[in-house]
Amino acid sequence: MGIIFLMPIIGRWKLGHRFNVGLSFSLLGGVILLTYLPVTEDKRKPAFKAAVEEARRNAHRVKVLAESPTGIPREGAVTLLRNDPLTQGPKLFAKNCASCHRYDGRDGTGRQLQDPPEASDLNGFASREWLAGLLDPERIDSLHYFGGTKFKEGKMVKFVKKDVAGFSLEQKEQLKKVIAALSAEAELKSLRKLDQRDAALIAEGRALIASEAMRCTECHQFQKPDEDATAPDLTGYGSRDWLVDFISNPAHARFYSKRNDRMPAFGQDKVLDGQAIGLLADWLRGDWYEPSQP
Ligand code: HEC
Ligand code: HEC
Repeated sequence: MGIIFLMPIIGRWKLGHRFNVGLSFSLLGGVILLTYLPVTEDKRKPAFKAAVEEARRNAHRVKVLAESPTGIPREGAVTLLRNDPLTQGPKLFAKNCASCHRYDGRDGTGRQLQDPPEASDLNGFASREWLAGLLDPERIDSLHYFGGTKFKEGKMVKFVKKDVAGFSLEQKEQLKKVIAALSAEAELKSLRKLDQRDAALIAEGRALIASEAMRCTECHQFQKPDEDATAPDLTGYGSRDWLVDFISNPAHARFYSKRNDRMPAFGQDKVLDGQAIGLLADWLRGDWYEPSQP
């Protein structure tokens, strides 16, 4: 700054003038070089690219939310993204759950992980498809379901691999109704129309869950209180309440009790607050605001 200040005085001599011109050009060159270097470096960084992509997504999402019927809340527009399951769910999942679980084979935000999963893939949790996979003798002990947990050789895996594998054609048809009925307990937004259409089939399935042919209530509690039940409660399976309670404490008597494998009690241990658990449950259930198509 001192030299620049003195430039008019230095410029009175011919040599000084040349010095001024030279200095000006090298300063200009420096500015160009120092702009070029970081811009090209950022372009190469995946973290930078991801951050720009996320900012772009958030900018789009916040506009969608501001135009929703509820509009901008009284607390201000910052809470729009803070309370949005679609924005917060993937981040919360990547941070708290992806050390064991996967979401569509990834960490929730779309990043690939190196280690094999230690618990189920929760993409589509409690949907008919997810449950059909769980009750498939070929798939229940795969890494997608119980393969990474200590239940790999548990009672449910044994039941599916021995009993379900030996089901007659009639029983297989009944199992499809059981799956539809169990999934309907979750009341997923994506299956609302299908569940309404299949109301009769679902009612049949509900009765079948407690039947001797299907045997589910030999171990699980369903609809009626059952003190002898040792397996997780299937009443309201995958519903918002069920999920919030499960994430809060999977070792509750209603769920895995003392047999709980590694999964932390996020609510009980105050790792996550009620709001974060609610956001996770909503996100896993695919329940967030989407504008209806005009
Ligand atoms: C340390 C490993 C671990 C972490 C972290 C973990 N879980 Fe689990 N999770 C498990 C295991 C193991 C099971 C199987 C049942 C059990 O032992 O509770 C499970 C079961 C579940 C289930 C029931 C479906 C099933 O596959 O049995 C849900 C839903 C679930 N976890 C959600 C979550 C969410 C949401 C998070 C993050 C907030 C999370 N888990 C974090 C290990 C984990
Ligand atoms: C022999 C006892 C037994 C029978 C019969 C049984 N289950 Fe299970 N089920 C279990 C146990 C125990 C678990 C927990 C995992 C384990 O310990 O293997 C479980 C886990 C499950 C889960 C996953 C819970 C979670 O973590 O999210 C679902 C869903 C389920 N069973 C549905 C059914 C259905 C539907 C039937 C009937 C077609 C059925 N089960 C029959 C014992 C049984």
